[in-house]
Amino acid sequence: MRQHVNPLSSFFQLPLELPPPEQLFRVPDQPIHLDIGCARGRCLLGLAERDPHWNHLGVEIRRPLVTSADRDALASEHGNVRILFCNANISLEGWMKALEQDRLQRVSIQFPDPWFKRRHHKRRVLQPALLLATATALQPGRELFLQSDVLDVIEPMVALTELSACFDRPAEDQRPWRTNNPLAVPTERERYVLEQNLPVYRVLYRRNQNPLPSVSDLEQRWQEIDNPAEALTT
Ligand SMILES: C[S@@+](CC[C@H](N)C(=O)[O-])C[C@H]1O[C@@H](n2cnc3c(N)ncnc32)[C@H](O)[C@@H]1O
Repeated sequence: MRQHVNPLSSFFQLPLELPPPEQLFRVPDQPIHLDIGCARGRCLLGLAERDPHWNHLGVEIRRPLVTSADRDALASEHGNVRILFCNANISLEGWMKALEQDRLQRVSIQFPDPWFKRRHHKRRVLQPALLLATATALQPGRELFLQSDVLDVIEPMVALTELSACFDRPAEDQRPWRTNNPLAVPTERERYVLEQNLPVYRVLYRRNQNPLPSVSDLEQRWQEIDNPAEALTT
């Protein structure tokens, strides 16, 4: 099994500014789908081919994967996909904040690294700050799609998203988990999991009209749920 990259190590804390859409896509004012932790980018590369009227940005912390994926992206027919190296928890907030209103219309986090040990939960990609930055950039009705093959990973993502109160699950999103993928192209991990006949847990949220909680408030409430022992000592 591959070693996960520790996003909290000092190397990955370096600020790295992502370019604006004008420098990434041939038609920069199309809606953007952002896929966080996209690995080799097969899902986004496939979606970009099928949906030329969307732009697709994948971000990934493992540089060798990005090198190959972005080479394919740059060679794509429609100029509507890029795969960039960054730590999503460091670089996305500023990038999303600088976007024009309603430019970002879909965000996906698919099969994120699990980091099972409680003391490693802070390495998980969906953290309160990233969730709130995403909620700030998405207008009401726009989508946040989460999927994983690990219940212990999807359940905390759902719990955090619902704790923020910024997203609703539409009635048509089956409970407890939707069986089909709203995206037309599976990821690498999804393909593998489905080939093994293992379950996949999926949730599609839509941004609602609610105002955002503060990051510190959500972080504190989240820590009380996710790591109560540490919450008592801080
Ligand atoms: C289990 S893989 C799944 C990849 C892909 N989404 C799929 O479904 O096949 C999770 C990916 O997220 C990336 N990742 C983890 N933390 C990240 C972070 N903070 N920023 C960007 N990428 C991250 C990992 O390097 C890894 O490639």
